[in-house]
Amino acid sequence: MENQVGRSNCRRQRVVLFPLPFQGHINPMLQLANILYSEGFSITIIHTNFNSIYTSNYPQFTFRAVLDNDSKDINLAKLSSKGVGDLLSGIMLLNQCGEESLRQELDQMLMASKQQGEPIVCLVTDALWYFTQSVADSLKLSRMVLRTSSLFCVIVYASIPVLEDQGYFNQVNSVFDEENIDLDLKNIIAPNEENNFKKPDGGESVRNLEDRVPEIPVLKVKDISKMRIKGQKDPTGKLLANMLKQTKASSGIIWNSFKELEETELQKIHKDFPVPSFLIGPFHKYFPASLSSLMEPDRSFMSWLDHQAPNSVLYISFGSAAQLHKQDFLEVVNGLANSKQPFLWVMRPGFVKGSEWMELLTNGFLDLVGERGHIVKWAPQQEVLAHQAAGAFWTHNGWNSTLESICEGVPMICSPFWGDQPLDARYVSDILKVGVYLENGWEREEIESAIRKVMVGEESEDIRERARYLKEKVNVSLMKGGSSYESLVSLVGYISSL
Ligand code: UDX
Repeated sequence: MENQVGRSNCRRQRVVLFPLPFQGHINPMLQLANILYSEGFSITIIHTNFNSIYTSNYPQFTFRAVLDNDSKDINLAKLSSKGVGDLLSGIMLLNQCGEESLRQELDQMLMASKQQGEPIVCLVTDALWYFTQSVADSLKLSRMVLRTSSLFCVIVYASIPVLEDQGYFNQVNSVFDEENIDLDLKNIIAPNEENNFKKPDGGESVRNLEDRVPEIPVLKVKDISKMRIKGQKDPTGKLLANMLKQTKASSGIIWNSFKELEETELQKIHKDFPVPSFLIGPFHKYFPASLSSLMEPDRSFMSWLDHQAPNSVLYISFGSAAQLHKQDFLEVVNGLANSKQPFLWVMRPGFVKGSEWMELLTNGFLDLVGERGHIVKWAPQQEVLAHQAAGAFWTHNGWNSTLESICEGVPMICSPFWGDQPLDARYVSDILKVGVYLENGWEREEIESAIRKVMVGEESEDIRERARYLKEKVNVSLMKGGSSYESLVSLVGYISSL
């Protein structure tokens, strides 16, 4: 741990942490567990067998499997990694069915910990495990929430009722077919007559997908559609509403962010969420994500990367769950080929819908890969971004990837898919100005031009300069006296006092 804040207490208090079983949620929770361990707490991780963690990487922690221990359990059968719809239904199902089983597990753990003279002082769960609040309440155990997204994202989610009132969800969902959203987007967003919508008051004024949202001026109307939420009654809307409600009922929120990055948002969070907030991130600056990888990172390209010129390689990765349609994939391939830039591309098996892995790539493109690129199934991402050859990151803007890029001062090309990603992409391009947003979907000429703009174009040096400046801010926040450092001191004191 780079900047351990230190704690005089010896290991006499235990914290139990419960991550959501998906890569983008497991990484920050395990990093948080390591941070708390370094601060003197004993750690128990409770986890599902679905997407189970490599427990042998963490001999210092105690692990307990919960919820899906019965292989015939209908809940487990419904958990599937095949698509976001399935991920969401899995999360919702466990939230509905997990209460009794978790209560029994925790009850046993609480009794055992008392006998061992090492009381459990706190349960830290992913914010999306909203059902855990009533379990913790019934056991008189304090529950803190880890929110793995940006503060800005939570503010937008909290505004869903207002946005729905204003008719944003009616508008956008009438034209966006959920399954084909990316394919459709490029045909829809060009400003023309068909993109205008009447406001719900029935007045003459119209709204365009390119318009800013007055209620949240950072956003454009089309960003709301890209979140793929249909409103409060939509299953995702209900999940988010429950998450927000039970976050407000918790004993506090731990954020993987830092004050200087989201200063305005922090003021709003303090106002709207009447529980203590601790911004102690970015977590991966303390402990790398590679230990909690669900897939083995391929390092075979490292010697090739070592021989590339500084800032010359485009790193491409769209996270752990996003999937692309074949037609869009072909645009990506052509845009990349035409950009003539060296690249390292993480192409997960199953990334292209209906395809195993690389079979859609032509021999021509594969020759190109031999000349100036590498394709792998999974990479040691933080190491790649920290490499001097990394020139830009073409990303889906998952929050972990966004933070990892910011911390290394690497400019971004933003291609979000759903959920918080379009919100992060807008923030990165319009507020932080360290990325170019490919906001019109997947189109080869635009892709080629965005890659050139960020890698070699006239503006590239300005973007890189701003990215370097942000990197400096991160480093300062983690040093003694810095905002994240001091927030961690407060968090450790707070948990000890629970
Ligand atoms: C999703 C959401 O988009 C994210 O915003 C939310 O907070 C969690 O769920 P995901 O798609 O997994 O996350 O993306 P991201 O948040 O970026 O997390 C991916 C993690 O996997 C990162 O820590 C990244 O370093 C790691 N990774 C990715 C690798 O280690 N190797 C790879 O090849 C690709």
